[in-house]
Amino acid sequence: MRAGLESIQELYVICLKDLHAIERDSIQLLDRLLHAAGDVKLQRLIATHLHQTLEHGPQLADLLEQVESKPEGGGCASGRILLEEAGRVADGSSSGPTQDAAIMAALQRIEHFEIAGYRFVRALARHLRLDDAVEVIGTLLDEELDTSEILASLIERPLPLNDADLPLRRPWGYIK
Ligand SMILES: [Fe+2]
Repeated sequence: MRAGLESIQELYVICLKDLHAIERDSIQLLDRLLHAAGDVKLQRLIATHLHQTLEHGPQLADLLEQVESKPEGGGCASGRILLEEAGRVADGSSSGPTQDAAIMAALQRIEHFEIAGYRFVRALARHLRLDDAVEVIGTLLDEELDTSEILASLIERPLPLNDADLPLRRPWGYIK
């Protein structure tokens, strides 16, 4: 996002373009995370969200067209950094529960970023009285919220600890 905006509609367009960029770039990332994940429930969640994400870009492009704009020129540094960090997790050489936990954390950060973006852009659509857009954005937001909620439940599951984790469990405390 950039400073010096003239109108709410201009802000709305820039926010939609930024969301379009992160959704577009998430497709390849989700595919990589799907291959890196080992847990079946996590794989299923990523596959479902990949399927949803494929639809998000065209829907955002439609919303931009309604206000006579196009997706080109979108994308913000904060979104790019989140995707890059998740990409590094996908490229990690480890596997198993620790790798899965790292994937969940990286993905959850992206989901929270998208949720914040969709909530904000929906509020702008309400201000602009774009009723159809409010509805479409609400549907996209719900899919991100569902993904985030399932991720949260997977993150909260107990993780199996291996020998390298055992010193941290000693009751007498700090390990040098
Ligand atoms: Fe998402």
